[in-house]
Amino acid sequence: MNTTCSLRRLRNLHVNIIKRHHALRYKSNSCINTNEFVLYDQLISKRRSQSKCSVLVQVSSENSCSDLFSYCSKFGSIKNMFHYQLTDSNHFVLTEFEEQSAVNNLFDQSTHLEDSNVIAVRSPFLWFRSNSSKKNSKLITENNFNFPFQANQIMIEPSVQNIGLEKLDSLSKQMLLLLEHTQLNDLGTRLRFLTAMQVENALKGIFPLSKILPFGSTVNSFGKIGSDLDLVFMNNKVTKNLTNRLVYHSKCMSSGRSQIQRHIEILGDLLQLFLPGCSRIKRISQARVPIVKYFQDFVGLECDLAISNETAVNMSELLYIFGNFDQRVRPLVFTVKMWAREINLTNDTPGKWITNFSLTLLVLFYLQQEKIIPAIDILVKEANNNDLRITNEGINCTFLRDVSKLSRTVQNEKTLDQLLLGFFDYYALFDFQMNAISLNVGKTIKKPEYSALYIVNPLETNFNVSKNLSLEEMERLRIELRNAAWLIESSLKNKDSFNLLELFKGEALKRNQKVFKIQHKITNSNRLVTVKDLFEDDSEIEENKKLKKQLET
Ligand code: GTP
Ligand code: MG
Repeated sequence: MNTTCSLRRLRNLHVNIIKRHHALRYKSNSCINTNEFVLYDQLISKRRSQSKCSVLVQVSSENSCSDLFSYCSKFGSIKNMFHYQLTDSNHFVLTEFEEQSAVNNLFDQSTHLEDSNVIAVRSPFLWFRSNSSKKNSKLITENNFNFPFQANQIMIEPSVQNIGLEKLDSLSKQMLLLLEHTQLNDLGTRLRFLTAMQVENALKGIFPLSKILPFGSTVNSFGKIGSDLDLVFMNNKVTKNLTNRLVYHSKCMSSGRSQIQRHIEILGDLLQLFLPGCSRIKRISQARVPIVKYFQDFVGLECDLAISNETAVNMSELLYIFGNFDQRVRPLVFTVKMWAREINLTNDTPGKWITNFSLTLLVLFYLQQEKIIPAIDILVKEANNNDLRITNEGINCTFLRDVSKLSRTVQNEKTLDQLLLGFFDYYALFDFQMNAISLNVGKTIKKPEYSALYIVNPLETNFNVSKNLSLEEMERLRIELRNAAWLIESSLKNKDSFNLLELFKGEALKRNQKVFKIQHKITNSNRLVTVKDLFEDDSEIEENKKLKKQLET
């Protein structure tokens, strides 16, 4: 038992050293050490290999973990065990083996309930039956004090109010703390790849070359604990080899949208009828990109599964490159996304609101203006043969992948707080009416068409990424950008310090809710309501009158 404690202490010490090391790295504002840059393909392949060597086992409590360790060790050597809880009674252990063969052994020696209603499906999600011989179980526990176990991993995003932002004296440190507490952690990423692997394994028999790949914020380095899991079904073909004389008979696919819609329906049925843990299935086949939405109960995640959206995968890689280009990119993007969420500029349901994707592009564009990250055209110019990618839909996604090869001459030493204020200032004064944002050239261009906000899609440059944004929502965004700039600036002028929480729940939100109320009433009524109609409290009327005027002009 003493040895267990010492090992735990050692592990904690190690974690603390790593945390301190990260803090030091961030303190210096220099660019990322290019030797550390991990290529996107390498990252994906490492995570996929991990998921092939892993299973997720539901246990009755944390106390069953050592028993599980002993039991599973007979299938092969165990590399890692991570325990987490979704609710009080739902305990899970992600168990990673050294070799994939151990997982196959485990599958071969696992069973299904003998119930005629149960459909026997092989999946990486299992549960651990309690052992009737308690004596044996105790003995095992005592002998296995050094198993690679990490208990009570965080799976639920903490509230920004509870992470201790107010204890830090500088805005930059608060931004780093926010990143540290809300970014997707190692276990979260592992579970997302395992969730993808569940569907991939289910389809393997009929589509042996297909892959289910996570994309979006799970892999683009801007992922948050609890953000949705975007998945894409990629049905790869073997590259033509003329020496192979035996060729598979196959069915031809009629190209086009209706075929994809039918496939989405089938995938929806598969998840609904056969795959354990997949619940709340919705087939959204009429959307611009048809998807199946579902909830994976064992990992507590909303999932969106699309078909053959290769461009989105390449987009994730592009964002990943930018997220890792400089240490200031991710804390800035996280802070801006959190700001937008806390004051209700973004919304989980798709609609006329600004999306996290558009917000991320706005931050990246600002960082291009600061010469902290390059224009996409530079990455395209520097691309070599290995970077050549043309999707099945004919979209050219060629750009330099290994950016450690890019020479970096311009040094911008601005701190995170300067950049946050700079971001709000930049867009508070931005002429959204006339200008569009192009990350490709890294400059504004003349708006090609009328839209409230125009952000050129970096990979399909004829499209506007923020076409969904309504005029009213754009107006709200503009007001909030100005409010934020004003709030930080005035606070720094007076007190020399600023608390991020003020930005998240301060004046901006209160005023914003009133603006929203007014807008809502105006748009939902034929007559223009009087300010008195809206607010009972007379003391608020003067302030609201000003706001209303601002809106009407
Ligand atoms: P969160 O889920 O909010 O954390 O961010 P996300 O980046 O994953 O956004 P979302 O789940 O909405 O979309 C997933 C991915 O789809 C994005 O990262 C983009 O690559 C792509 N995407 C989202 N919205 C658009 C859009 O309007 N146009 C295009 N072309 N791609 C989009
Ligand atoms: Mg997402």
